[in-house]
Amino acid sequence: MDIDLKTRDEVASRWIFFRQWLRNPLSMAAISPSSRQLAKRMIAELPVDCRRVIEFGGGTGAITKALIDHGITPENLLIVELNADLYRHLRSRFPRVPVVHGSAADIERLARESGFDRGGPADAVVSGLGLLSMARADQRAILDAAFSVMTAEGRFIQFTYGPVSPVPIEVLSELGLIATRSRLTWWNLPPATVWVFSRARSRAVPAVPSRLR
Ligand SMILES: C[S@@+](CC[C@H](N)C(=O)[O-])C[C@H]1O[C@@H](n2cnc3c(N)ncnc32)[C@H](O)[C@@H]1O
Repeated sequence: MDIDLKTRDEVASRWIFFRQWLRNPLSMAAISPSSRQLAKRMIAELPVDCRRVIEFGGGTGAITKALIDHGITPENLLIVELNADLYRHLRSRFPRVPVVHGSAADIERLARESGFDRGGPADAVVSGLGLLSMARADQRAILDAAFSVMTAEGRFIQFTYGPVSPVPIEVLSELGLIATRSRLTWWNLPPATVWVFSRARSRAVPAVPSRLR
């Protein structure tokens, strides 16, 4: 966890996140927002020419902020958040960024209704969802929906707290996906690993070169 509490924004975010975790620990899947280090590791997995991004489970905006700082513009960004309080928090913290209230499994409809789809498919989906604790049917529905709104080379970038892939190999092969894993980020509560899922037949899309991470 990032112990450098630089802004009041961050302190407020942690408190809001913790309160939501007390109410719904399974859906929140963590007691604290992602650290800056973990957010950076997620960003490092974006395709090199990445322009359009959808974020699943924006929470209090730890990864949203990193996406904006990376240069993803508001018209090329769509945040999906299921929790009504966190949805409102995201809307007030990032007034220029489109945030929708709903489930990631409904991303096709949400992208259409929000007008995001008019700008073309996404290059990446960045996910903070607790996939590890979800039923396989829910994992399958969310991944299937995510790949339907991405380009053929689209990447699904996910962090997880366990040592293994948050999605079992059977689900990945049913959907024709392959998985790659990056190093463990110790500086997060709890330590986390970033996984990237992509279509098995897609061209290899290089991530941001490691010297830029
Ligand atoms: C582990 S938190 C990650 C929050 C934030 N991205 C971060 O890294 O700090 C998971 C978030 O996913 C949201 N969530 C859970 N299920 C969801 C779903 N089906 N669709 C959209 N958001 C969901 C929760 O409300 C919570 O904000």
